[in-house]
Amino acid sequence: MGHGDATGRPADEQTTDQQTDEQQEQGTGRAFTAESADQYEDRPLGNRRHMNFYSRKWVRPEDLNANGTLFGGSLLKWIDEEAAIYAIVQLGNERCVTKFYSEINFVSSAWQGDLIEMGLVATHFGRTSLTMSCMVRNMITRKTILTIDKIVFVNLGPDGKPAPHGYTEITYLRDRIPKRTTAPIPRQPITEVIPVQRPEEATSIDIVDPR
Ligand SMILES: CC(C)(COP(=O)(O)OP(=O)(O)OC[C@H]1O[C@@H](n2cnc3c(N)ncnc32)[C@H](O)[C@@H]1OP(=O)(O)O)[C@@H](O)C(=O)NCCC(=O)NCCS
Repeated sequence: MGHGDATGRPADEQTTDQQTDEQQEQGTGRAFTAESADQYEDRPLGNRRHMNFYSRKWVRPEDLNANGTLFGGSLLKWIDEEAAIYAIVQLGNERCVTKFYSEINFVSSAWQGDLIEMGLVATHFGRTSLTMSCMVRNMITRKTILTIDKIVFVNLGPDGKPAPHGYTEITYLRDRIPKRTTAPIPRQPITEVIPVQRPEEATSIDIVDPR
């Protein structure tokens, strides 16, 4: 990986802090310790040693491909949601969007009834972006299912443009999570359906969406 951390060290040499028991209790994920790594045949290296595995999934029939194994599209959907939550927690902003995925390496698969777990770790805090590394493991076979070297999310301002987030280090706490004290303004429902102006050219109808 080309990016360094806030200290300028190359990412491969980064050593993120081990979580304390207290941090674990605050519900910020299960740290991937050397001890738990020993259960896996292909142990991750470098900063991935301190990757946090937050979510687990139970592979169900609707998540299978025609080969009867885990459908990659389902897995990527779960990862993207997991990465969005990670970015929101790290950058303290609900308006974080997916910008970039590096190569995705599907190493092995999963079968119906398997349990999988998804791990993420921030590897670089940019000015408006956050880069993460991802690994998904099969808890039943003890094999790595997938690795993604770089997932980049961008922090947006109220105008929908990239905005500086101001963070340089990982938080293992819930101190940056955005707080809402009142109900959000609901999105306006679609209220009106009117025919197009020139019916002779129309192939469909215009739907007026006031959003
Ligand atoms: C996110 C978006 C607003 C960024 O716009 P942009 O013009 O690329 O913005 P910038 O060039 O200022 O780049 C913003 C950040 O992204 C990073 N970035 C841009 N392109 C990148 C790429 N190909 N790979 C990695 N990082 C990239 C930049 O380095 C910058 O990070 P930094 O400020 O930490 O240095 C715009 O691309 C967008 O709206 N994309 C669609 C997002 C979306 O809807 N995602 C959901 C899935 S469809």
